[in-house]
Order: sequence, then structure tokens, then C-alpha cells
Amino acid sequence: MKYCPIIFPAAVLLLATACQQQPQQSQQPTTTQLTVSQPAQTPVQRGEYLVTIGGCNDCHTPKKLGPNGPEPDLSKALSGNPSTEKLAPVPKGLIAPDKYLTVVNNHLGAWVGPWGVSFAMNLTPDKETGLGSWTEQMFVSALRTGKHQGTGRPILPPMPWNWYRNMTDDDLKAVFAYLQSIPPIHNPIPDPLTPEEIPR
Ligand code: HEC
Repeated sequence: MKYCPIIFPAAVLLLATACQQQPQQSQQPTTTQLTVSQPAQTPVQRGEYLVTIGGCNDCHTPKKLGPNGPEPDLSKALSGNPSTEKLAPVPKGLIAPDKYLTVVNNHLGAWVGPWGVSFAMNLTPDKETGLGSWTEQMFVSALRTGKHQGTGRPILPPMPWNWYRNMTDDDLKAVFAYLQSIPPIHNPIPDPLTPEEIPR
């Protein structure tokens, strides 16, 4: 009998908690409702969606001049920094802690910074100059590890792999499936330049 005062409040607490949770649970939507509202998508469609909202075109699609200024040239979608473009000289001292972190060419494809110059990769399935010879594994590892093709040199700024690496495996694979489904465009991308090689 002497245990009653201890057990009793505990039982009341349990009951009270159970009662409080009741209305909350009834407000939760059921799993069935959530599943029904998801449209069916193929991996390629999912990949197209992710590439669009992921902003890959910002850096990987050349720009042309439209009525409101530069716009993505979708006839060259995702083919990377145009190889025909000559890099304009970058005055010494412009990239400095109290000046600019980066300057970029008119296509948002060639980026000059303390790392040297990086050129946005050709993401079309062209075998020689794009992702045509890449495996899905190479692509997924590159975006997860920040290493070229998943095993090589570090991928340079401003490629935002450190954000994209949070994508699920299925999403990264879907992005690769979409990129392999678009028209191949031949556009060779040079290796990055070291800081000493920046044209002055
Ligand atoms: C802010 C600009 C920018 C955005 C946005 C961007 N990239 Fe990049 N990306 C680059 C640059 C620059 C490089 C070249 C980096 C280098 O040479 O190290 C690159 C390189 C790559 C590479 C080659 C990696 C390797 O192994 O060498 C892949 C693949 C790639 N990007 C995919 C994507 C995808 C997919 C998206 C969108 C989800 C995307 N990028 C968005 C700038 C960008």
C-alpha cells in the first residue's frame, strides 16, 4: 500500500499524456493521402526537374543576348563554357581580399578567382567532350566527394557540389539519367588554369 502515492501520480501522468496526444494524432494527414498527391515521374523527368531548379543552366549553359539582356541559349543547353570564347585579361590585383573574390565571363562559364580559372563542364552526353563516357558511379561520386570524376583532383569553385551532395542517391542518379538523355553537343572544355596562368 505504501507504493500507491508513487504509482498513482505516474498513472495520472500517463493518462494525461495519452489524452493530450489524441487530438494531435487525428490532425496528421495519413500516408495514403500523401502518396496519392505525388505525380508519377520517370527518373529522366525527375532529373529534368532537379536540373531546372538546381540552377545548373546558370553556369553550364552559354548565354546569348535577348531583349532583356543575357539569357540562356537553350540551343546549346548544358554544353558548358563555349570553347570559341577567348578569356579577356584580368588586371593584376583585381582579385584580392579587399577587392573582388571572383570575376566571370559573359556566359557565367569561366570563373576567375584565387583558385585560378575554372571552366563550367560540358554536361551533355558527347563522348569526347561531355559526360558521354562517364558512368553513373563516376557522376554520383563526383558530386558527393567533390573530386573530379569521383577520384581525381578537387572540383573547383564555384561548382556547388557541397550543396548538391545532399541529394539522395536516387536524385543524383535521376540527374545523370536526364543529362544522358539530352542532345550531345561537341564543346571541349579546357583544364582549369592555375593562378599564375590567369591572362593579364
Ligand atoms: C555557380 C556555377 C555552377 C553551377 C550552378 C553548377 N555548376 Fe557544375 N561546374 C561549375 C564549374 C565552374 C565546373 C568546373 C569545375 C572544375 O573544373 O573543377 C563545374 C563542374 C561540374 C561537373 C564536373 C565535375 C568533375 O568531376 O570534374 C559536373 C558533373 C557538374 N558541374 C554538374 C553540375 C550539375 C548537375 C549542376 C546542377 C545541379 C551544376 N553542375 C551546377 C559551375 C557550376
